[in-house]
Amino acid sequence: MYEHNQPVVVEELELDDPKENEVLVRTAASGVCHSDLSVVTGTIYYDAAVALGHEGAGVIEHVGRNVTGFQPGDTVILSFVSYCGNCRMCQMERVCLCQTYDVPRGFLLDGTYRLHNSSGDGILQMARIATMSEYMVVPEQNLVKIDPHYSLEKAALVGCGVTTGVGAVLNTAKVEPGSTVAVIGTGGVGLNAIQGAVLAQAERIIAVDIAEKKLNFAKNFGATDVVNAAETDPVEAVRELTDGLGVDYAFEVIGNPKTIVQAYDMVRPAGSAVIVGIAHHASEFSIPAQRFVSSEKRLIGSFYGSCQPRVDMPKLLNLYTEGKLKLDELISRHYRLEQINEAFADMEAGENARGVIVF
Ligand code: APR
Ligand code: ZN
Ligand code: ZN
Repeated sequence: MYEHNQPVVVEELELDDPKENEVLVRTAASGVCHSDLSVVTGTIYYDAAVALGHEGAGVIEHVGRNVTGFQPGDTVILSFVSYCGNCRMCQMERVCLCQTYDVPRGFLLDGTYRLHNSSGDGILQMARIATMSEYMVVPEQNLVKIDPHYSLEKAALVGCGVTTGVGAVLNTAKVEPGSTVAVIGTGGVGLNAIQGAVLAQAERIIAVDIAEKKLNFAKNFGATDVVNAAETDPVEAVRELTDGLGVDYAFEVIGNPKTIVQAYDMVRPAGSAVIVGIAHHASEFSIPAQRFVSSEKRLIGSFYGSCQPRVDMPKLLNLYTEGKLKLDELISRHYRLEQINEAFADMEAGENARGVIVF
């Protein structure tokens, strides 16, 4: 991505060898997630130029000095957070909330580039990985080793969408059996929140989207009711479906202040609104302060499904093996890397559950 809000460019880059504690990975597949598009639009801000992609899987080609636990030939999912291992959040096993995460953005951990273009300019890597590249040099800690028998295009989706969506329900909200749940935005991540709600044995799962095609996907993933927010007020519709009370849990999986407030409005007193979507970095939302107290509603952020990548990702793949988690059905279309702009256009048009770039 050389310029915000312009088509992205596919070109050959120079890639340095892995340094200490870094690994060279040959990418097998990369999901196309809305967060990638959000980098292009500046919603998630990176300086240009940046190599995109944060949902991927591949095979290790080469390891740098002092890499322990990985060797060439290992199959891995890429996690999109790096962590220090020492801070209070890391000590609490909340590595995705590491206090050192996200500064500086897009450089490797030593603050330098591994990618360079033909003019010699450094290219940042989204989330220090850049899964929309044939090869990546990444920190060892961003790797999750998986059993080699898994299809890597399916495993790639676990790198963001599946873990983020399922984790929001099971880890962040800890939805109880019998609960009523609404999911606003049933794209690649939201469909996984629906799957999470199925796994949690929620009784009602209400899918809210503005695209009829997405609502059909939602039914296939376990939604018991659907609401087309382009046609009706979703807050009223959800209230009607819950005898006027509101749902126990609402998940916002778009990243829009308006739908965040809708999520809050559609939960019952003492219910939880869980915000998964990543809104523009400068956007804000507001809720009535007095009512916040008197309704005892909870408003919770959920980042990366509150996951521990090396614990949760293999577990999710195991659920897939047991037939309890749908991954095949998530992939609507395969793309070649050269088709990335088409993949983004399809995402904006709401064509796919998930699109996947295969290398
Ligand atoms: N009301 C209801 N649904 C909406 C609305 C709206 N106002 N606006 C958009 N949507 C729906 C779209 O129709 C689409 O189905 O939200 C869905 C978003 O899905 P995707 O584009 O596939 O995005 P996804 O990859 O699932 O990411 C969703 O999670 O990780 C974050 O940055 C990511 O904020 C993004 C969110
Ligand atoms: Zn993502
Ligand atoms: Zn830390």
